Amino acid sequence: MTSDVHPDIARVLIDADSLRRRVNEMGARISADYAGKDVVLVGILKGAVFFMADLARAISVPLALDFMAVSSYGDTTTSQGVVRFIKDLDEPIEGRHILIVEDIIDSGLTLAYVAENLRRRQPASLRVCTLLDKERERASPVTPDYIGFRVPNEFVVGYGLDYAQHYRNLPYIGVLHPRVYATSSDTPRLKPGACAGKPGSDQPES
Ligand code: IMP
Ligand code: MG
Repeated sequence: MTSDVHPDIARVLIDADSLRRRVNEMGARISADYAGKDVVLVGILKGAVFFMADLARAISVPLALDFMAVSSYGDTTTSQGVVRFIKDLDEPIEGRHILIVEDIIDSGLTLAYVAENLRRRQPASLRVCTLLDKERERASPVTPDYIGFRVPNEFVVGYGLDYAQHYRNLPYIGVLHPRVYATSSDTPRLKPGACAGKPGSDQPES
């Protein structure tokens, strides 16, 4: 319903019903692909939390949950692929089937860095599942194994995704109204159109 949409949202891209349907489809697909296996879902905090909670309930094979927190930096450092680890996994993953769960792939640098780090720990397999894949040019090729939706190169929030830590609790994915970050004093880096749709990306994020 239009009246339920948050006033800071310019438009709803993916409503709650569509999210639910797609996440259930992804869970069914993952369950089939991992039949007979025991998988570890590795969520990238904090953005992947809502997606991961729903996805895990749509998967029927045995699974464990673990989490990593990383921080990507603003434009200059991000382009060098510099990612800082804030929180590591709780458990070793050697010999385990690992499925990284991400909220959105933008430049792909965060994911490339995390995947490379986890690969060195010699898991039995390593795949990537992202809810959203931004349609944009990428310097480093990342090919997620599971993609929920392709979205335009705009800044989106909701269902776990934030702007300055807010809007994660919206039950849908929406495009943030540009006036929200145009007036925000805590995101001086933001240059709409020049920022690859990533305001405030120097914050501990994901
Ligand atoms: P990447 O390293 O450029 O792929 O950035 C990935 C991370 O940036 C994601 O995990 C998000 O935390 C954040 N991000 C990128 N685009 C958006 C967006 O449109 N909305 C909210 N967060 C975003
Ligand atoms: Mg993220």
